[in-house]
Amino acid sequence: MTKYGLRRSLKGQPCPICGEVRHKIYKSHPFPMPASVGRGLWLLTDCACIKQQREQERLERERLVIIPAAHPLPLALQAKSFDGFQVTELNRNAFERSRSFARNFDKIENGRGIILLGPSGTGKTHLAAAIANELREKFSVAFVYVPTLLEQMRLSNVPLEPLLNADLLIMDDLGTDRATDWVVERLLIIVDGRLNNLKPTVFTTNYDLQDLDARVGMRVASRIIGSNLHLFLKGTDYRVRHVKFTPKLP
Ligand SMILES: Nc1ncnc2c1ncn2[C@@H]1O[C@H](COP(=O)(O)OP(=O)(O)OP(=O)(O)O)[C@@H](O)[C@H]1O
Ligand SMILES: [Mg+2]
Ligand SMILES: [Zn+2]
Repeated sequence: MTKYGLRRSLKGQPCPICGEVRHKIYKSHPFPMPASVGRGLWLLTDCACIKQQREQERLERERLVIIPAAHPLPLALQAKSFDGFQVTELNRNAFERSRSFARNFDKIENGRGIILLGPSGTGKTHLAAAIANELREKFSVAFVYVPTLLEQMRLSNVPLEPLLNADLLIMDDLGTDRATDWVVERLLIIVDGRLNNLKPTVFTTNYDLQDLDARVGMRVASRIIGSNLHLFLKGTDYRVRHVKFTPKLP
């Protein structure tokens, strides 16, 4: 066999692991080389285990190239973790349930997600980001800041497919926009689409459950309220915890 510069010898060596015969082939150099290098070299063909090993290495290289470039969270949230969350009596339940949601994510079958509720600065977005960070290597995770998403939708055609198909979607800060028909319709497509696909969503909102339908419309609110675990965070704004109140002098 001389085509492609290959020649096969009669002798082969069976691989000690899979038993497949590794043939000895002579591969000519594609262009003339100095005499000291010779015209070509003897190689062994790949057996099944070597092919599998090469495929594995190729996949690992692809993973390394793809994943770090595509972090689902905005930069400011990429370091948020459960370890970095200060647990108090006012947030313990939300913290523990959020963590167990992330740890048992592969067992969720009905698409049941979470809605994190509470005043500003109580750690809702922090917990949502911690969930995303814990899951993002094994699952596809998408994050949207709802006011920005709606703004982008007003300006252009935002592809919905990644939001509908991600294993987990975080919808941060639901309800800051007034519930116009247009907003309700957009939100409904996403919320309903994910429920129909049985894909869990994590919502954060500043609004009470009672106020949510005024913010996002009854149809969206009832779906969110009905199909998610409600976790309440209480306490003062963590952002201003070190700012001491100094009474004004008369
Ligand atoms: N219990 C906590 N332990 C550690 N950091 C916290 C805790 N709660 C909040 N933080 C930090 O305080 C800041 C504000 O928290 P976060 O953004 O999660 O608040 P939020 O409840 O989403 O508020 P908003 O309703 O204004 O969006 C973040 O930097 C967050 O990491
Ligand atoms: Mg927030
Ligand atoms: Zn083998």
